[in-house]
Amino acid sequence: MQTNKPILVLGGTGKTGKRIVERLRARGFTARAASRNGETTFDWHEERTWDAALAGVGAVYMVDLVDEAVEWNPEVSVRAFCEKAVAAGVERLTLLQARTDEEAGGKSLTGSEDIVRASGLRWTILRPTWFTQNFDEGVLLDGILAGHLRLPAGDGLEPFVDCDDIAEVAVASLTEDGHEGRIYELTGPEAITFGQAVAEIGRVTGREVRYEAVTHEQYVDDLVSVGTPPDYAELLADLIGQIRKGKNAHLSDGVQRALGREPISFAEYAKNAVANGAWQA
Ligand SMILES: NC(=O)c1ccc[n+]([C@@H]2O[C@H](COP(=O)([O-])OP(=O)(O)OC[C@H]3O[C@@H](n4cnc5c(N)ncnc54)[C@H](OP(=O)(O)O)[C@@H]3O)[C@@H](O)[C@H]2O)c1
Repeated sequence: MQTNKPILVLGGTGKTGKRIVERLRARGFTARAASRNGETTFDWHEERTWDAALAGVGAVYMVDLVDEAVEWNPEVSVRAFCEKAVAAGVERLTLLQARTDEEAGGKSLTGSEDIVRASGLRWTILRPTWFTQNFDEGVLLDGILAGHLRLPAGDGLEPFVDCDDIAEVAVASLTEDGHEGRIYELTGPEAITFGQAVAEIGRVTGREVRYEAVTHEQYVDDLVSVGTPPDYAELLADLIGQIRKGKNAHLSDGVQRALGREPISFAEYAKNAVANGAWQA
């Protein structure tokens, strides 16, 4: 186990990355919070930023750009990054992907996996389901604040996973032995509908929040009408459609396997989020 070299956290300002940085530092590790606007500058589209970010690093947490509204080719970017990481002496890498084997928006969401597995680095792969934090930090926040969440999710079940759990698993994989070569599928402890999720947020906040099931096409129109690029709107609608079709409903035991405890429930997430000031706007 190496503990003395810095750990590079890509997506270091994002929902999972910032939690990983906090935890690493609290445990005495040196963490580089890296992104375009992070403490350490790292831009997937500017290869000249990679060498300084990687200098002296022992382990990397990788967030790729597969669900961003940008051109993204892991065959080029992830491969080149892994080659640089190996050359820089990086030993281990934890990759964040998603628990899905279906394409969305015409592309695979797990295209970085094979590249990382073949890189020569000691790898761990995290495949989470939908994040609870989408409701207070991500794509669902505006709908919650408006009191009206319109999604093409029907009554599909989703075992939302808390980013605190993802961060704990990532930190374990970056700093402890025993996680190398493992794929952790990460879910919460129960699958619920968006109607139930929104009702729970309404309960803990005292806000009136309503979920309305809409069609794929209505959702794409909603997004495009507020300036979302059509390709990206299709990707999001496809992802949510997977929930409507029941593809995501099953539970996985990655949190239990990696941490030896149960994952955080949606009710616990909502209670913690309110305590931390969420949904006050
Ligand atoms: N949300 C979900 O429910 C969910 C579920 C399963 C899997 N995932 C996966 O989670 C990943 C996203 O992770 P996250 O939610 O922790 O991050 P996030 O909150 O979406 O934030 C994105 C991060 O990437 C950085 N970033 C954006 N463009 C960049 C670029 N060109 N170069 C370098 N960094 C860039 C951002 O910082 P700057 O703006 O400063 O660059 C930020 O730190 C995606 O791969 C997605 O597939 C998400």
